[in-house]
Amino acid sequence: MPANRKPAYLEDFAPSRGTRAPRARFSSDAPSLDLNGTWRFRLLPRAEAGTDGFEAPGFDDSAWCDLPVPAHWQMHGHGSPAYTNISYPFPIDPPHVPDANPTGDHRRDFDLPKEWPRGPAVLRFDGVDSCFRAWFNGTELGFSTGSRLAAEFDVGHLLRPGRNTLAVRVHQWSAASYLEDQDMWWLSGIFRDVTLLARPSDGIDGLAVHAAYDHATGTGTLRVDAQGAPDALVSVPELGLVDAAAGVEHEVGAVEPWSAEVPRLYDAEVRAPGERVRARIGFRTVEVSGGLLRVNGRPLLLRGVNRHEWHPDHGRAVPRETMREDVLLMKRHNVNAVRTSHYPPHPDFLDLCDELGLWVVDECDLETHGFEEVGWRRNPSDDPRWRDAYLDRIRRTVERDRNHPSVILWSLGNEAGTGENLEAMAEWTREHDPSRPVHYEGDRDSAYVDVYSRMYAPHDEVDAIGGREEEEAADPAVDAHRRGLPFILCEYGHAMGTGPGGLEEYQRLFERHDRCQGGFVWEWIDHGIRRREPDGTEWFAYGGDFGEVLHDGNFVADGLLLPDRVPSPGLTAYAKTVEPVRVAPHPGAGTVSVTNTWDFRDTSGLAFVWRVEGEGSLLGEGVLDVPVIAPGATADVPLPALPEPSGETWLTVSVRLADDRPWAPAGHELAWGQARVGALGAGPAAPAPAPAPAAAGGGGAPYAAGDGTVRIGPGLLDAETGALLSVGGLSVDTPTVDLWRAPTDNDVAPHGISVAAWWRGAGLDRLTSRLVSTGREDGVFVVRSRLAPAAREIGMRVVHRWSTDGERLFLTVEAEAEGEWPCPLPRFGVHMAVPSSLGGVEWFGRGPGEAYRDVSQAARVGRFSTTVDGLQTPYLRPQENGNRMDARWLVLRAGDGGGLRVEGDPVFDFTARRWDTAALDAADHPHELVPGDRIHLHLDQAHHGVGTASCGPGTLPGHRLEAGRHRIRLGFAPVG
Ligand code: GAL
Repeated sequence: MPANRKPAYLEDFAPSRGTRAPRARFSSDAPSLDLNGTWRFRLLPRAEAGTDGFEAPGFDDSAWCDLPVPAHWQMHGHGSPAYTNISYPFPIDPPHVPDANPTGDHRRDFDLPKEWPRGPAVLRFDGVDSCFRAWFNGTELGFSTGSRLAAEFDVGHLLRPGRNTLAVRVHQWSAASYLEDQDMWWLSGIFRDVTLLARPSDGIDGLAVHAAYDHATGTGTLRVDAQGAPDALVSVPELGLVDAAAGVEHEVGAVEPWSAEVPRLYDAEVRAPGERVRARIGFRTVEVSGGLLRVNGRPLLLRGVNRHEWHPDHGRAVPRETMREDVLLMKRHNVNAVRTSHYPPHPDFLDLCDELGLWVVDECDLETHGFEEVGWRRNPSDDPRWRDAYLDRIRRTVERDRNHPSVILWSLGNEAGTGENLEAMAEWTREHDPSRPVHYEGDRDSAYVDVYSRMYAPHDEVDAIGGREEEEAADPAVDAHRRGLPFILCEYGHAMGTGPGGLEEYQRLFERHDRCQGGFVWEWIDHGIRRREPDGTEWFAYGGDFGEVLHDGNFVADGLLLPDRVPSPGLTAYAKTVEPVRVAPHPGAGTVSVTNTWDFRDTSGLAFVWRVEGEGSLLGEGVLDVPVIAPGATADVPLPALPEPSGETWLTVSVRLADDRPWAPAGHELAWGQARVGALGAGPAAPAPAPAPAAAGGGGAPYAAGDGTVRIGPGLLDAETGALLSVGGLSVDTPTVDLWRAPTDNDVAPHGISVAAWWRGAGLDRLTSRLVSTGREDGVFVVRSRLAPAAREIGMRVVHRWSTDGERLFLTVEAEAEGEWPCPLPRFGVHMAVPSSLGGVEWFGRGPGEAYRDVSQAARVGRFSTTVDGLQTPYLRPQENGNRMDARWLVLRAGDGGGLRVEGDPVFDFTARRWDTAALDAADHPHELVPGDRIHLHLDQAHHGVGTASCGPGTLPGHRLEAGRHRIRLGFAPVG
């Protein structure tokens, strides 16, 4: 194709041609027609300047195929998804794009309803990725870019009674693609709604609601600007406001303010002669004052998540019920804020945030991160030719979303470097909506923003920022400005794979420093794409699974939800970290201390349920009488007389909803606290001692059976090798010391310091053992060995001591590092294999879910049961997972009730899998893991922490597992 046949608009700096000025979406009594549904579609390999007449009403599209709208064509078998994080998947040659430019032609015939009024009408596209040109009944309307922004065209003059034809040509690549380099799948098409809207000539063109709240007086003011209808009248019946003039500020008297905690909305109607518009109004005032971000006068603590729009089958064409599910899941996990990373979401999502209550940082559709790879040369952010496109994007963001009370900050975009176009966006925003502060993390000096924002800053830096002691900015005036700003972490706690660790430590910093107003975990959901094997097995694809030449692998899977919206252990941990009520039982003192950490609401409507369990069995329960506690306040509440402890006994106080809320039913648990009952100095850190492995005695002394075996209580060992052969007749593979784990994404740390690379370098994935001696010492059977990696001098001196009390087989393993260990240990414990029939799992310890030492906040002490399969967390890339912490005992049981009991002294961590660590490490996807004929049981004294180094700080010093000396003591007994 000669170069001149490429359509000019593709490589134009201009964002659009023929579109209307942006405005808010609102619902009105003017007719509208939903044009979603089945359209006709064909995919062309490149962008042609000419058409073959497909836009004409009579065009024969019978050879085309069907495609739903909204949709991405790649999710329907046309072309393939592709994933890159930072890199542009095309040469950096702005504003040019490759000739190979998948182009989707779409057609839809529809019948105009008979009652459709004559006169103006608007065709609205809520989102088309990335550049499109549209025709109505054969007449060209124009083109538009800005994938996640609405575009409207006037079509009233083109409407015909009866059949009408809409034709849309969508290109995957355009100049605008340089502005849309967000870390996500490259997906194209008409992925949000298409609607035809009648526009009554004496109707309301646009709506801007200004609803403020004065926290000092408890009153509200309201001004509604109705564009195109200066004489429009506003009514808010509940406030007694009837037919008040639009465009004028009204004192509406006492109102209940809107907050994410109490999302009070008032129904309003705006009436012009030709149209009635409905609006839902929330009164609230956002400001930065006294160095803090405040709503209605109170500083906020944001407990947020970054949300990309994602559905594993539909991509960013997210069904409405899925949006709702997201909001419900957030609310149920104590999340109170969303950053719409990195583009304005579907407008329905913001309606849900208004209705159910979430603070929103609404981010503009802008990212030019790929320019970082070339030193930000030719970055559009600082190139005047792109200025209109930048202003167009922020204008379309603000105008569309300004009426949402949930939106409290405008964000200019993400990772677009810095430059005068961003400054111009900030200026425009302040001028057109002074009611909300401006956010942009990329403005590192915060020269043109109102909030100091960072991503992934490590804890010590956040601590310094909290104390307003951050590094100085070069310009003293800018420095003074920034030092006066509130601080948020717009991204932290990278939720990729197992983890993230370190959330609790961040939360303590947020609580310590007023300036730290919380943050947004990266990110809400894994962007995995559902695939099915011929036998129906489901799995989720990530970067590289579609044969992309350039990709960033599973970095797209870094969410708190698995792609099918199953909460990961990380989400459960986050929910505990940000729980709105803190409960600290002090059974010794007979009290419970209850702190309300909400910013606005008191604790009315909550039920406080206590429960006492001995060895995990219920001893008693009841409801606590807790007075209503104001936001930020603490009450010490007396405990009732508790049942007598029986064995290791724990008190749990659970904070639940007393009544149904729109986002969760009565009984939903928001928070909990636990304490040990009746043990001296006891607490979670000092669990009940399990029976100490006694030296052999009481009829349990090891004896040589004369056939080359040694019998020690229920255990049978090989006299020569010291290997355990069976326990109570159950064949096992002997417990051997294991230091290796299948590296987590945080261990691998593709963008940071990789502890996994150290581990592999040290050879911890190839440890071998050399037997030194076996023999009896003081009635104990002792096996000495040396564990060491090939090609290295370092090693561990290991001693196994076997003994019994007649009933149980006891093992003490001691190990001591030899040589200069260059790295911490992944884990310290033993690995053993047991028959695959032992698939039932029960334990008394912490659970019910996965926990590691720095991601253990949601694990409570109790008695839990599941299956070996149920212990696994299917992270998209297989890795160490499923650990359960602080087990006092564990039973693995077969269907017939027989099995193996393991006891700790006092506790141990465990994982159990149907494959070994090498297989887990080698697999690329969970469905590749094939169950073997053994269950691999890991009994660990400790793991190295998980951290969040996949993007951010690694394991904190307190959670490191150094080489050195280690010891684990276990007891084994047959059951059944
Ligand atoms: C940030 C970026 C996000 C995402 C994250 C890592 O730098 O803003 O879009 O890429 O890192 O997952």
